[in-house]
This record gives sequence, structure tokens and C-alpha cells, in this order.
Amino acid sequence: MTKAKIHVIRHPVVQHKLTLMREKGTSVTEFRALASEVAMLMAYEVTRDFPLGKKTITTPMGRMNAPVLKGQKMVLVPILRAGMGLLDGMLRMFPSARVAHIGIYRDHRTLEPVEYYFKASKTLRDRDLILMDPMLATGHSAVAAADRLKGARARSIRFMCLLAAREGVRNFHRHHPDIPVFTAAIDPKLNDHGYIVPGLGDAGDRIFGTL
Ligand code: URA
Repeated sequence: MTKAKIHVIRHPVVQHKLTLMREKGTSVTEFRALASEVAMLMAYEVTRDFPLGKKTITTPMGRMNAPVLKGQKMVLVPILRAGMGLLDGMLRMFPSARVAHIGIYRDHRTLEPVEYYFKASKTLRDRDLILMDPMLATGHSAVAAADRLKGARARSIRFMCLLAAREGVRNFHRHHPDIPVFTAAIDPKLNDHGYIVPGLGDAGDRIFGTL
């Protein structure tokens, strides 16, 4: 299992695109495309420590022992519904990845997570799981999703988001200190409704146009 850590991806292209996503006037079409692009760019960092093996290949000039990903069995796990906004970008990088869905909504009164859907292949054993949600706000949904996945005896679990609140990272790592978090930024606070401030608003609404 990867050592727990918070990885803030400060690459200028990621930062630029995140700023466009934060802006209120960004259209649904643009927002959706940006979410996908940022996910694709973040994919490099999220998978940076995946092990490489060697394979003998023949180039037009001769034979060589070339690096290849070592039998990686990846499962992408978007937390419904906003996590779906990151799926397309990740699948473009890893087209053969499997996808498991976990549906968790946040009770707007208690802010507590409620699971309403879970569908994954029969076994997640020995798989590398990437749990995805654009926002790590209170962290309750991410904690609940990780609780659910941990029983599956995966080889590794990583959590990927676009934006995290400090409080959310703390809460997540209090429950899952072994799961590294990858984010493009950490914002300072949450409002009374559990939204990240300054954040980017409701990611699901902005991805699906349900504003
Ligand atoms: N979910 C969102 O979509 N936005 C937030 O700011 C917090 C949770």
C-alpha cells in the first residue's frame, strides 16, 4: 500500500485550468471539458509510483528491452454523481481500466453520507483502485467510500479530487491514513452547508448543468 500523503499537483497547466473551472461564468460545456482535461493531466501524478517491468520489443532499428506498466490492474471508482466528471479523462489515459460505481449522497441536513448504490466486479482483490470525486469537502463521502472499498482487499487505494478543503483532508486521513490524496488545490474553509470556499460551487451541478 502506498504511504499516506497529500499530493498537491501544482503544474501550471493544471492550475490554469482549475482557475477556469472556478470562475462563475464558465459554461457547462467548458466546465465538463476542463474537468476531463484536468483529470487526464492529474493521471500522471496519481500513477507516478506504479511499477514498471520490461518487455523485449522490436523497433524499426532493432531490439530493445523497453519499460511497460507491470501488470497493473486498475479500477477507477467514481463517487456518483460528480465523480463521473473525472472518469472520461482517466479512461482516455487508461482505456482498459475497469470501472466500479459507488453512489453516495450527502444528507443536506446532517451532511452525513448515505450509500445508495454499489456496483463493482466480483473481486477487487489485488487491484489498484483510484477513488474519484472532484471535491473533498467535509470528507464524509470519501471516508464512507474508502470504508466500503477497504473490505475488498485491493492492492492499493488512491483518492483523487480537483479541490480539497483542509478540513476534508484532515478528516479523510484521520480515518484512512494509509490512502494518499491527490488534489490540484487545498482551499481554506467550508461554509455552513459544507461547500468549499472559495471552491468552485457544486461540481455535480456544474458538470451536469443542473444549476
Ligand atoms: N461538493 C461540491 O460539489 N462542492 C463543494 O464545494 C462541496 C461539496
